[in-house]
Formats: sequence, C-alpha cells, structure tokens
Amino acid sequence: MKHTVRSIQKLKHQKMIQMLTCYDYQTAGLLNKTPLDLILVGDSLGNVVLGYETTVQVTMQDMMVFGAAVKRGAPDKFVIVDLPFGSYATFDQGISNGIKLIQATDAEAIKLEGANDINYQIIGRLKQSGVAVMGHIGLQPQSIHSQGGYFKHGKKPAEKEELLNQARALEEAGCFAIVLECVDADLAAQITQAINIPAIGIGSGVAVDGQVLVTNDLLGMGEQAPGFVK
Ligand code: KIV
Repeated sequence: MKHTVRSIQKLKHQKMIQMLTCYDYQTAGLLNKTPLDLILVGDSLGNVVLGYETTVQVTMQDMMVFGAAVKRGAPDKFVIVDLPFGSYATFDQGISNGIKLIQATDAEAIKLEGANDINYQIIGRLKQSGVAVMGHIGLQPQSIHSQGGYFKHGKKPAEKEELLNQARALEEAGCFAIVLECVDADLAAQITQAINIPAIGIGSGVAVDGQVLVTNDLLGMGEQAPGFVK
C-alpha cells in the first residue's frame, strides 16, 4: 500500500514505522516490492555514493537526479527527498527549492534539517503550497561544523528543553513527521509522547514511532557502521 501523509500519521499509534534510505533506481525497485513504509533519498548520498567526507557538498542537482531515479524505481512508495545544505538558507530559497525538488523528482515529500524561525516559516509556506515536509532535529549532518562533530544530543537539561520545544514547533509549523537523529533515548521517548506527529529515530533508542537507517549501513557496505545499526 502506498502511504499518504494521513496514513503515515495514523501509523503513530499502530506500528513501528520503517524507513530506509535509497539512492538508485534498482535498489528502489527492490524496496518497492517490500512492505517498507517510507523511502528517504537522504543527502547521506554525499557520503555513501559520492564519497564526500560530509553532506555539505551535496547540491540541488544531485538531489534532483538521485531523487528522480529512486522515484522511477519505487512508484508505489512514499518517497521523501532531502533539501541539501544551503538550499534553504533564506525563506525565498527554501520555497523555490522545495517546490523545485518536488517537481523534478515527483517525490511525495521533502525533508529539511534544523528548527529555527526561517525553517518554521518555510515549512508553513511550503505546506500551504502543497508540499509535505518532514523535519529533522538532534544531530544535523549538514551543520556538522557548527554543531561541532557527531555526538548524542539532549543530554543536558537545557538541551532537553530546547529539543522538546523544537519538536513541538516543527509540528506547529506544519511538518507531517520528524526525524530524531542521535537524541538521548529517554528524551526521544519524551518527545515522541509530546507530539502528535510521528517521530522517526536514528540512534535515538527504541521508544519512538519509527526507525530510519542508511541502507548501506544496514547491508554492512561501509567501513564502520554506527553501533545502533545492529
Ligand atoms: O541523509 C540521511 O540519510 C538522513 C538520515 C540519516 C535520517 O537524513
């Protein structure tokens, strides 16, 4: 069954949502035949397909090409494509690139990282324009330099409060679901309870509404997969 934002939201109280990344037509064709709920064309393609150190070099053109290939291979799946680094630094860029990505790929939704005033405005306007948006907080690979590396988020009391507020604000802004990446497991559980939209975790414990993994990590293709992959 192909999901819609409405059916995805209903899953929150029914089952663990399963999401995997995908970057190419043939793998998409395989995933299209499975019961997987969601496919993410993540900008992690910068690391696993293009061999970059970070996702910072990934461009709109990359996301449009790989996103469209995945959508052609998985016509029966709800596909989400990442807006890449720098493509939503301003309100106008976010709106025009969000719409461009949907039109170029035929995907069902886009995802953007971070929770700040500009992002909330972009999410709200895109939703009004008919674009479904997934949020992403905690570890944000596009902000790896400003966040200061890869680490668990939400351990300190002030950070806990901030992440909880960000999750609520993303829901309020119009996100249909959010990703919690490397968020302290207890806090991820608290956030999951506090919001009405699905919280999909990666490295954020088990008390969330769904899990997302980078398929290449799941298949053991990289040099060293994160510990939570098992
Ligand atoms: O780009 C990506 O693969 C992601 C997941 C890790 C959530 O954003």
